[in-house]
Amino acid sequence: MIGDDSIPNGTLTLLGTGPGDPELLTLKAIKAIEAAQAIVAPKGTVNGASSALEIIKRVVDISDKEVVDVHFSMKKVHLSGEKDSSVTRSWDTAATEILKRTRRGMKVVFPTLGDPSLYSTAYYLLATCLEKAPGLETEVIPGISSMSTCSCTVQNPLALGDDLFCVIPATFDDKRIEAALLQFDSIALMKVHKCLPRLMELLEKTRLIDASILIERCGMEGQRIYFDPKDAVGEKLHYFSTLLVRKRGFKDIIKTDNHHEA
Ligand SMILES: C[S@@+](CC[C@H](N)C(=O)[O-])C[C@H]1O[C@@H](n2cnc3c(N)ncnc32)[C@H](O)[C@@H]1O
Repeated sequence: MIGDDSIPNGTLTLLGTGPGDPELLTLKAIKAIEAAQAIVAPKGTVNGASSALEIIKRVVDISDKEVVDVHFSMKKVHLSGEKDSSVTRSWDTAATEILKRTRRGMKVVFPTLGDPSLYSTAYYLLATCLEKAPGLETEVIPGISSMSTCSCTVQNPLALGDDLFCVIPATFDDKRIEAALLQFDSIALMKVHKCLPRLMELLEKTRLIDASILIERCGMEGQRIYFDPKDAVGEKLHYFSTLLVRKRGFKDIIKTDNHHEA
């Protein structure tokens, strides 16, 4: 996006860090972090660490950069409905911290876990910043998403051929999840950590338990893969847990296709 002459030429770059393994940080993201004077880092809890910041610290020396932690409310956002005031307040506070620095001409980066295009605070923040400073020069750098990383880790694709693929937060109500499970060939369920018993019931009902794999803390220390997700019921799952449901095994597809061509 083009900048505005009335604003000193500070910039805001939102970038995806990948889901945990520092080797999945892109070269473009590394270059943007190295060029920045300030990192505004998101945290889900007031006292916790920023996972996105922890990832970049393992790759880039940030000792010469100003680091500003910002806390975001984890409350659900309904795009077309009324937004919780704690949520909009947290976007506002973070935008204020960013704009304070870009107005002084600083290059600011905002790292976000995985890819910014998937259920990330980054775009709410971008919209809030641009509302307050419409001429701000901005860039969004993609990252490797958690679902892509989970898929590669278990060597099972998200979508192939004529597959219909869908991504759903498991916090959606049962009806929406069941409809997606029935309609799509491959489904990635995010934010499953608090919903597993409910999801297991839906997977039993739709006869998809055997097509499901649960990946916890993918690419991070303590990574666990449950080829039978029922084994994880009763475990304290980490927030970084994703359930992949794929109705057709990709090896079976090759066998079937070859058979047809013969
Ligand atoms: C708010 S969403 C953010 C998704 C992120 N923007 C992305 O591209 O992956 C958070 C969800 O991503 C998934 N997730 C993030 N990191 C993960 C990891 N290392 N292993 C498994 N799932 C992960 C989990 O389902 C988690 O609840």
